[in-house]
Amino acid sequence: MDGDSARALFVGVLRHAHAGELAAGHAYRGHAASVSDPEEKARIRKIEDEEWVHRKQVGEMLAAMGEAPDPVLERKFLWIGKTIAILCRVGGWYVPMYGAGRLESHNVKEYEDGADFAVACGHPEFVECLLEMAEVEWEHEAYFRSNVESHWFRHVIPVWPAIPPKDEIRRSFAARNPAFADSERAPLAGRAV
Ligand SMILES: [Fe+2]
Ligand SMILES: [Fe+2]
Repeated sequence: MDGDSARALFVGVLRHAHAGELAAGHAYRGHAASVSDPEEKARIRKIEDEEWVHRKQVGEMLAAMGEAPDPVLERKFLWIGKTIAILCRVGGWYVPMYGAGRLESHNVKEYEDGADFAVACGHPEFVECLLEMAEVEWEHEAYFRSNVESHWFRHVIPVWPAIPPKDEIRRSFAARNPAFADSERAPLAGRAV
Protein backbone atom coordinates (compact mmCIF):
# COMPACT_ATOMS: atom_id res chain seq x y z
CA MET A 1 0.00 0.00 0.00
CA ASP A 2 1.41 3.43 -0.91
CA GLY A 3 1.51 6.31 1.54
CA ASP A 4 -1.33 8.26 -0.09
CA SER A 5 -3.68 5.28 0.00
CA ALA A 6 -2.75 4.59 3.62
CA ARG A 7 -3.32 8.23 4.53
CA ALA A 8 -6.76 8.24 2.91
CA LEU A 9 -7.68 5.05 4.78
CA PHE A 10 -6.34 6.45 8.05
CA VAL A 11 -8.31 9.69 7.72
CA GLY A 12 -11.39 7.63 6.83
CA VAL A 13 -11.00 5.52 9.97
CA LEU A 14 -10.52 8.65 12.10
CA ARG A 15 -13.60 10.37 10.65
CA HIS A 16 -15.73 7.28 11.15
CA ALA A 17 -14.41 6.81 14.69
CA HIS A 18 -14.95 10.49 15.55
CA ALA A 19 -18.60 10.29 14.49
CA GLY A 20 -18.99 6.83 16.05
CA GLU A 21 -17.82 8.13 19.42
CA LEU A 22 -20.47 10.86 19.21
CA ALA A 23 -23.14 8.21 18.70
CA ALA A 24 -21.66 6.10 21.50
CA GLY A 25 -21.56 9.03 23.94
CA HIS A 26 -25.24 9.83 23.41
CA ALA A 27 -26.28 6.17 23.36
CA TYR A 28 -24.54 5.44 26.68
CA ARG A 29 -26.04 8.53 28.27
CA GLY A 30 -29.46 7.09 27.45
CA HIS A 31 -28.38 3.59 28.41
CA ALA A 32 -27.13 4.73 31.84
CA ALA A 33 -30.41 6.54 32.44
CA SER A 34 -32.38 3.41 31.55
CA VAL A 35 -30.80 1.03 34.07
CA SER A 36 -31.81 0.99 37.73
CA ASP A 37 -28.87 -0.87 39.27
CA PRO A 38 -26.47 1.76 40.72
CA GLU A 39 -23.34 -0.24 39.83
CA GLU A 40 -24.47 -0.69 36.24
CA LYS A 41 -25.39 2.97 36.00
CA ALA A 42 -21.96 4.04 37.29
CA ARG A 43 -20.08 1.68 34.96
CA ILE A 44 -22.04 2.80 31.89
CA ARG A 45 -21.48 6.45 32.83
CA LYS A 46 -17.74 5.74 33.03
CA ILE A 47 -17.90 4.11 29.60
CA GLU A 48 -19.70 7.20 28.29
CA ASP A 49 -16.93 9.40 29.71
CA GLU A 50 -14.31 7.23 28.01
CA GLU A 51 -16.09 7.59 24.66
CA TRP A 52 -15.97 11.40 24.97
CA VAL A 53 -12.25 11.19 25.69
CA HIS A 54 -11.80 9.03 22.59
CA ARG A 55 -13.72 11.52 20.48
CA LYS A 56 -11.48 14.33 21.70
CA GLN A 57 -8.31 12.32 21.02
CA VAL A 58 -9.46 11.30 17.54
CA GLY A 59 -10.40 14.91 16.80
CA GLU A 60 -6.91 15.99 17.82
CA MET A 61 -5.40 13.41 15.48
CA LEU A 62 -7.53 14.68 12.61
CA ALA A 63 -6.48 18.25 13.34
CA ALA A 64 -2.82 17.24 13.52
CA MET A 65 -3.24 15.68 10.07
CA GLY A 66 -4.69 18.96 8.77
CA GLU A 67 -8.09 17.26 8.39
CA ALA A 68 -11.55 17.75 9.88
CA PRO A 69 -14.49 15.55 10.88
CA ASP A 70 -16.98 14.66 8.14
CA PRO A 71 -20.13 16.78 8.76
CA VAL A 72 -22.39 14.26 7.01
CA LEU A 73 -21.11 11.41 9.18
CA GLU A 74 -21.35 13.58 12.28
CA ARG A 75 -25.03 14.37 11.63
CA LYS A 76 -25.84 10.76 10.81
CA PHE A 77 -24.17 9.36 13.95
CA LEU A 78 -25.64 12.06 16.17
CA TRP A 79 -29.07 10.94 15.00
CA ILE A 80 -28.15 7.27 15.54
CA GLY A 81 -26.85 7.93 19.06
CA LYS A 82 -29.89 9.92 20.13
CA THR A 83 -32.23 7.32 18.64
CA ILE A 84 -30.46 4.51 20.51
CA ALA A 85 -30.66 6.58 23.70
CA ILE A 86 -34.44 6.78 23.34
CA LEU A 87 -34.77 3.11 22.41
CA CYS A 88 -32.84 2.13 25.55
CA ARG A 89 -35.81 3.35 27.58
CA VAL A 90 -38.19 0.95 25.86
CA GLY A 91 -35.80 -1.89 25.01
CA GLY A 92 -35.63 -3.48 28.44
CA TRP A 93 -32.33 -4.58 29.97
CA TYR A 94 -31.00 -7.20 27.58
CA VAL A 95 -31.26 -5.57 24.16
CA PRO A 96 -29.24 -2.41 24.99
CA MET A 97 -26.54 -4.52 26.70
CA TYR A 98 -26.43 -6.82 23.69
CA GLY A 99 -26.36 -4.02 21.14
CA ALA A 100 -23.60 -2.17 23.00
CA GLY A 101 -21.39 -5.23 23.29
CA ARG A 102 -21.80 -6.14 19.67
CA LEU A 103 -20.87 -2.61 18.55
CA GLU A 104 -17.90 -2.49 20.92
CA SER A 105 -16.46 -5.64 19.36
CA HIS A 106 -16.20 -3.69 16.07
CA ASN A 107 -14.66 -0.65 17.78
CA VAL A 108 -11.63 -2.68 18.88
CA LYS A 109 -10.92 -3.60 15.25
CA GLU A 110 -11.45 -0.03 14.06
CA TYR A 111 -8.67 1.31 16.30
CA GLU A 112 -6.39 -1.62 15.45
CA ASP A 113 -6.87 -0.79 11.77
CA GLY A 114 -6.18 2.85 12.58
CA ALA A 115 -2.86 1.96 14.21
CA ASP A 116 -1.82 -0.05 11.12
CA PHE A 117 -2.77 2.80 8.76
CA ALA A 118 -0.97 5.34 10.97
CA VAL A 119 2.26 3.39 10.56
CA ALA A 120 1.67 2.88 6.83
CA CYS A 121 1.20 6.60 6.19
CA GLY A 122 4.14 7.73 8.30
CA HIS A 123 2.42 8.76 11.54
CA PRO A 124 3.76 6.38 14.19
CA GLU A 125 3.24 9.04 16.86
CA PHE A 126 -0.47 8.11 16.95
CA VAL A 127 0.05 4.38 17.45
CA GLU A 128 0.20 4.30 21.25
CA CYS A 129 -3.00 6.32 21.64
CA LEU A 130 -4.81 4.18 19.05
CA LEU A 131 -3.76 0.92 20.72
CA GLU A 132 -4.82 2.26 24.11
CA MET A 133 -8.22 3.16 22.69
CA ALA A 134 -8.52 -0.36 21.22
CA GLU A 135 -7.78 -1.76 24.69
CA VAL A 136 -10.41 0.44 26.32
CA GLU A 137 -12.95 -0.68 23.69
CA TRP A 138 -11.95 -4.28 24.51
CA GLU A 139 -12.81 -3.61 28.17
CA HIS A 140 -16.16 -2.15 27.14
CA GLU A 141 -16.91 -5.26 25.07
CA ALA A 142 -15.91 -7.51 27.96
CA TYR A 143 -18.24 -5.67 30.35
CA PHE A 144 -21.28 -5.96 28.10
CA ARG A 145 -20.41 -9.57 27.21
CA SER A 146 -20.27 -10.53 30.90
CA ASN A 147 -23.69 -8.95 31.45
CA VAL A 148 -25.23 -10.66 28.44
CA GLU A 149 -23.73 -14.03 29.36
CA SER A 150 -25.26 -13.78 32.83
CA HIS A 151 -28.79 -13.48 31.46
CA TRP A 152 -31.10 -16.32 30.41
CA PHE A 153 -32.06 -14.41 27.27
CA ARG A 154 -28.68 -15.36 25.76
CA HIS A 155 -30.37 -18.65 24.85
CA VAL A 156 -32.84 -16.72 22.68
CA ILE A 157 -30.37 -14.30 21.04
CA PRO A 158 -26.95 -15.99 20.90
CA VAL A 159 -23.98 -13.90 22.04
CA TRP A 160 -21.92 -12.38 19.21
CA PRO A 161 -18.65 -14.12 18.24
CA ALA A 162 -15.87 -13.87 20.82
CA ILE A 163 -13.00 -11.49 20.10
CA PRO A 164 -9.32 -12.33 20.78
CA PRO A 165 -7.80 -11.80 24.26
CA LYS A 166 -6.81 -8.25 25.18
CA ASP A 167 -3.05 -8.83 24.92
CA GLU A 168 -3.57 -9.96 21.34
CA ILE A 169 -4.14 -6.28 20.40
CA ARG A 170 -0.46 -5.42 20.93
CA ARG A 171 0.91 -8.82 19.97
CA SER A 172 -0.87 -8.85 16.61
CA PHE A 173 -0.01 -5.20 15.96
CA ALA A 174 3.70 -5.98 16.51
CA ALA A 175 3.42 -8.99 14.21
CA ARG A 176 1.80 -6.92 11.46
CA ASN A 177 4.26 -4.04 11.90
CA PRO A 178 7.65 -5.65 12.69
CA ALA A 179 9.71 -2.60 11.69
CA PHE A 180 7.69 -0.34 13.98
CA ALA A 181 7.79 -2.89 16.80
CA ASP A 182 11.60 -3.06 16.55
CA SER A 183 12.03 0.71 16.58
CA GLU A 184 9.58 1.17 19.44
CA ARG A 185 10.40 -2.01 21.32
CA ALA A 186 10.64 -0.40 24.74
CA PRO A 187 7.21 1.28 24.86
CA LEU A 188 5.46 -1.69 23.29
CA ALA A 189 7.13 -4.31 25.44
CA GLY A 190 7.01 -2.22 28.59
CA ARG A 191 3.27 -1.89 28.80
CA ALA A 192 1.19 -4.04 31.06
CA VAL A 193 -1.51 -5.71 28.99
FE1 LIG B 1 -14.61 4.70 22.21
FE1 LIG C 1 -16.54 1.85 23.64
